[in-house]
Order: sequence, then structure tokens, then C-alpha cells
Amino acid sequence: MGLEALHQRGWTTFGQDVAISDWVAHVQPIAAQIASDPKHITSWLRYGGTWFAGVNVLPNDPRGQLNGGPVLAGPAVELLTSLHGPLALDRAQISVMYPGYPAYDGSESEAAHRYRELRCAAHVDGLLPDGPHRRRYIQEPHQFVLGVPLVKSSEQASPMVVWDGSHHIIRAAFKSVLDTVPVQDWSEIDMTEVYHQARKDCFEQCTRVTVLAAPGECYLLHRLALHGIAPWGNEAIAPKVGRMVAYFRPQKDNNLHEWLNGKY
Ligand SMILES: [Fe+2]
Repeated sequence: MGLEALHQRGWTTFGQDVAISDWVAHVQPIAAQIASDPKHITSWLRYGGTWFAGVNVLPNDPRGQLNGGPVLAGPAVELLTSLHGPLALDRAQISVMYPGYPAYDGSESEAAHRYRELRCAAHVDGLLPDGPHRRRYIQEPHQFVLGVPLVKSSEQASPMVVWDGSHHIIRAAFKSVLDTVPVQDWSEIDMTEVYHQARKDCFEQCTRVTVLAAPGECYLLHRLALHGIAPWGNEAIAPKVGRMVAYFRPQKDNNLHEWLNGKY
């Protein structure tokens, strides 16, 4: 695991570490309070109340610290520091999955809902659908995705899924379009077709794997890996507060070239 897995498979997990458990012990009650705050619920509850999306709602600083608690540390942070320099985290997303995800509430098309159920709404971060025709442009080139579970849950409780090795396919597909375009023009290139074809290739060629981790563990996802969230299963076990994960997805200024061509 570690850097080798990140290279080969596009994701890796990190075992129990006291620095992560200490951070989780401090942050979990704060995250639970945020996810039960009516103001945040109005902004972030989706799909018939089965997902609290909570993008950038945790008021942590660039080292992951908040309210006098510990900074984020441990082997995952050591690896990230060796790859990207000192931690410069964004405010964490607090994502909470509830029983029944994804309930259909008419907020998306039936086709999009089916894709959410069957393909776990698989996506590459940073290519947000734009306008009524959902055209895709590069908008949020994240450096990585670091997932820090805040509660213990079973494999059926809407875990993250990753298409193993998909970052190789996505990278080659995007490079086939962008290698001949100056980097300052990338955000104006319509990536819709190449993205849809690459996603299809990943479904055909890569194995879908479930990433399960307990509090004190964490996982790291390659910025170009195809990933999603599985539907809630009938046998799922999770606490009343839901399956709660903090995700860090920092961006860096002028990061686009590295996003596509970075060393790993
Ligand atoms: Fe994502």
C-alpha cells in the first residue's frame, strides 16, 4: 500500500494511527453538530434526506486544526507532505450517508438517478456538469482526496467505491485532448465526450472495489480516479448519526498542469 498503490491502483488505505484517532475523537462531535444544524441541513441535505453533502463545512485550518484540537498527522499526512509539501488543506467536506440512499426525490433526472443506483454516481472530481446540457469542463483540479472516517460502519452503509486503476485510463484520455492545448485554455475545452467515453472504458476494464476504513484509519484517492458512493444496503450497520466521513480535497493555484501530468 502507500505510494506504490496510489501509483498502480489510484487509491490506498492507511492502518490505525493514534494521530488520526485523536483527530477523529475531537472532530466527530463537531461534525455531528454541523450535520444536525437546521441551517446546514437546508443547504446540504439531498436525495430525500439520505445524503448530507456538507461541502467545505468544517471550519478547520490548513493543517486540519479546529477549536484548539490536534492537527491532522500520521503516515497519510507524511506521505502527502512528501508529495505536495507542507499541508495546505481546504475546509473538509462532512459527508453523511443515511439509510435509503439514494432516495428518489425528483431533484435529478430518472437517468441520473439510475446512474446513481447502478454506477454509484461514478465521477472524477473536478469536472462539474455545467448548464442544462450538463457539459463538462475542468473546474476544480484537486490535488488529492483524503477520506477520514468519523464513525464505524459496515460495508453496506454506502461506502466509497473506486474503479481500480481507472486513473491511468482517465489520464490517457484527457491527455489525448489536452496535450496539444496551452494549459491556460484547458478550462474552456469541452471535455464531455472524452470524459463519458473514458468513464465507459473504466467500467469495462477496471474492477470496482469498496474502500472501507474505520475511525483511526484513512484513505487516499488519486485526483484522477473514477469513484462514487454505493447505495445503502439492507444489512447496513451504522450509528444513528449516519455514516460520516471528512473529506479533504485541496486545490492549489496554477495546479492544472500538475493535475494532469504530476509525478504520480
Ligand atoms: Fe468525488
